Amino acid sequence: MTETRANSKKLFIKTYGCQMNVYDSDRMSDALAPHGYETTLDMGQADLILLNTCHIREKASEKVFSELGRLKELQDERRAMGGDMLIGVAGCVAQAEGEEIARRAPVVDMVFGPQAYHRLPDMLARAEAQRHLHPALRKSIVDTDFPEEDKFEHLPAPRKEITIKRGLTAFLTVQEGCDKFCSFCVVPYTRGAEVSRPVAQIIAEARGLVDAGVKEITLLGQNVNAYHGLGASGGSTSLGELAYLLAEIDGLERLRYTTSHPRDMDDVLIAAHRDLDILMPYLHLPVQSGSDSMLKAMNRRHTAAEYLEVIARIKAARPDMALSGDFIVGFPGETDADFEATLKIIADVGYASAYSFKYSTRPGTPGANLGDQIPEAVKNERLWRLQDLVNAQTTAFHAACVGKTLPVLIERPGRMQGQVGGRSPYLQAVHLEGGPELIGSIHQVEIVGTSTNSLVGRLKEAVAA
Ligand code: 5AD
Ligand code: SF4
Repeated sequence: MTETRANSKKLFIKTYGCQMNVYDSDRMSDALAPHGYETTLDMGQADLILLNTCHIREKASEKVFSELGRLKELQDERRAMGGDMLIGVAGCVAQAEGEEIARRAPVVDMVFGPQAYHRLPDMLARAEAQRHLHPALRKSIVDTDFPEEDKFEHLPAPRKEITIKRGLTAFLTVQEGCDKFCSFCVVPYTRGAEVSRPVAQIIAEARGLVDAGVKEITLLGQNVNAYHGLGASGGSTSLGELAYLLAEIDGLERLRYTTSHPRDMDDVLIAAHRDLDILMPYLHLPVQSGSDSMLKAMNRRHTAAEYLEVIARIKAARPDMALSGDFIVGFPGETDADFEATLKIIADVGYASAYSFKYSTRPGTPGANLGDQIPEAVKNERLWRLQDLVNAQTTAFHAACVGKTLPVLIERPGRMQGQVGGRSPYLQAVHLEGGPELIGSIHQVEIVGTSTNSLVGRLKEAVAA
């Protein structure tokens, strides 16, 4: 073992919620690596535990406090044995609740929101400086400010060997925050106003990923297709334009993006789906409801018909586009007829996959002040009906792939010996017989069957490099 390893401290990050939190957790671990922290998958070994939290629905938020209860026990055990352990709460619950977390759970050393991640090494140094104090005297460090500076300028890029370990697919945040203010949603408050990263920064990060073997990048943003980053000539660059620029990176084979708003699907982005082979034919385009009165109450700023028009334009550019969506049932005032309209739009679109949720009141959002809340039993019933419909659509979508030959990015060994697994262009998991030499590239795979939530394939031929 090298000296640095022997001296290294262990970091454990538990990530809740969305893909941006997954990306942020990696960036936090990258920020701490130069300070001697090595990531571990064993919480029991950790010198520092970070909870990267999600505030989108009540259930997600509640998990934090129950986890902190468990961590307190772990910390007590550690201290009884003469050791110690620092605990930080990051992410959207930290942003929303700030001091309240420190008050309710004094076990926490640091509470900090998503816009403070570049200041983590600093906070950690301050937390470590309190270690010699009796626990009762230590003060939680709270940082929920939205800084002026660009945090991405201050977050170090991951070391190449770390990126290699993370695999063939990677997330890359290009845009953060939201200015849309849907009336149910906490995102504009927890992630802040919409900010787009400059094009040059994104291209440099993408090149670094590809250089470390990444084949597929998913561009992330809460409102990713509202991206308008500073371009090389000083003007603003749209997501569609960014896609054309990223397509020029040698070695990048697949590009995806999520999550999009129907109002921001502009012509350039749609044309990019027609023109760029690397842009995958799978689009997550939430509509939330099929009822115009619900869409208005949700402040979505579009009607059901406008959503369907957008889909028609996308399908005209890319006929095989697979669609995915988010749906909320039981928003205040939702009638049976409103709910039927949601089932109707689902039937009209035909989704490859969909995520559906019971409306959850979020403090501070306009939806929280609305009367006519829907009883839990009604929400449950609507959710089951909706999920039955989308499950049938997903099954039909998978079944329609049987007999087709699809390019599959083979990413890992399969669950069974002698198998490998990867993803189709439509983001379906595909399993097939094959050896580890297949991992790392795209292969033509004939789909011969389906199993729960995945496809079964047979290798046809390797794509020439
Ligand atoms: N209640 C239920 N679902 C919500 N979502 C966002 N806010 C709420 C809420 N208050 C869902 C939306 C969004 C997805 C990320 O989470 O469908 O698109
Ligand atoms: Fe939330 Fe998305 Fe609406 Fe923004 S567009 S407020 S992130 S649901």
